[in-house]
Amino acid sequence: MMAFTMTVQKKKEKTELVLRNIYNLPPIPDAIKQSLEMLDRPELNSHSLSNIISKDQGLVTKILTIANSPLYGLQRKVTTVEFAILVLGYSELRNIISVLSIVEAFKNKTDAFLNQKEFWLHSFLTGSASKRLAEDFDFPNSGEAFIAGFLHDFGFSIIHRFFHADFIEIYKLVNEKGVSYNDAELEVLGMTHQQIGNYLADKWNFPETLCEAILFHHNPEESKQNKMLASIVHLADYMTEKLDIGNSYWDKNLVLSDSEIGVLRFREHEQVDKFIESYRELFSEQVDTVRFVN
Ligand SMILES: [Fe+2]
Ligand SMILES: [Fe+2]
Repeated sequence: MMAFTMTVQKKKEKTELVLRNIYNLPPIPDAIKQSLEMLDRPELNSHSLSNIISKDQGLVTKILTIANSPLYGLQRKVTTVEFAILVLGYSELRNIISVLSIVEAFKNKTDAFLNQKEFWLHSFLTGSASKRLAEDFDFPNSGEAFIAGFLHDFGFSIIHRFFHADFIEIYKLVNEKGVSYNDAELEVLGMTHQQIGNYLADKWNFPETLCEAILFHHNPEESKQNKMLASIVHLADYMTEKLDIGNSYWDKNLVLSDSEIGVLRFREHEQVDKFIESYRELFSEQVDTVRFVN
């Protein structure tokens, strides 16, 4: 047992060394970078913002697609960037553009071990469901929930990109030997994708609650800063599995934490199942949205 612990610790140190040196992410397109910078300025003006966004037609299409998705439940179809800014407001727009910038920064190549479209579908659906859950459970910041849900598995994408040989080894342990995903990660890297995601999110100065939601998305009961946010992301992640839409092989056999019942005030497991069913429509509709975004 002692020897095993030592090895995991050694592997963890090796993994952290690689993580410390991750800088070379692909550049984020100018329009995304500039609009995020502009959204941070106090003297923000919607005319110049829409000018910057409009320079990149791909970005315009993506923003309008998300704005018109059931996530925002808008009554009228949004057909221009100006109108999107007006009806969504700056902070929602910021969330949408942030998510799009993350998709750009973490663009990986699809290979036999990971289909990128499936990965982003899983991320986007978990983000979408987290946002809706935040609204349904009166969590004050549904934008943060959207981003936390969207990012929950990004450690996984990091393993695929920066630890590719290890990724394949983990894949084989899981798919050929039936080892659980987290156990395989610990065996190979000494760290789970939750820990890797949290490590980088922390290094990049993401808000602490967001880092924690990433770290505890499989065991929200351990969250200290914000149990509610971690529980929301956990339930959203579990929903993909339960509804069998946008689910992922690495989350197979995901077990719903008992603390969900308490934190989200469900009376019993049966009630959770019924509740999850009520999200099926959102999931199906968001599958169509993501086709345009990815
Ligand atoms: Fe996960
Ligand atoms: Fe997941």
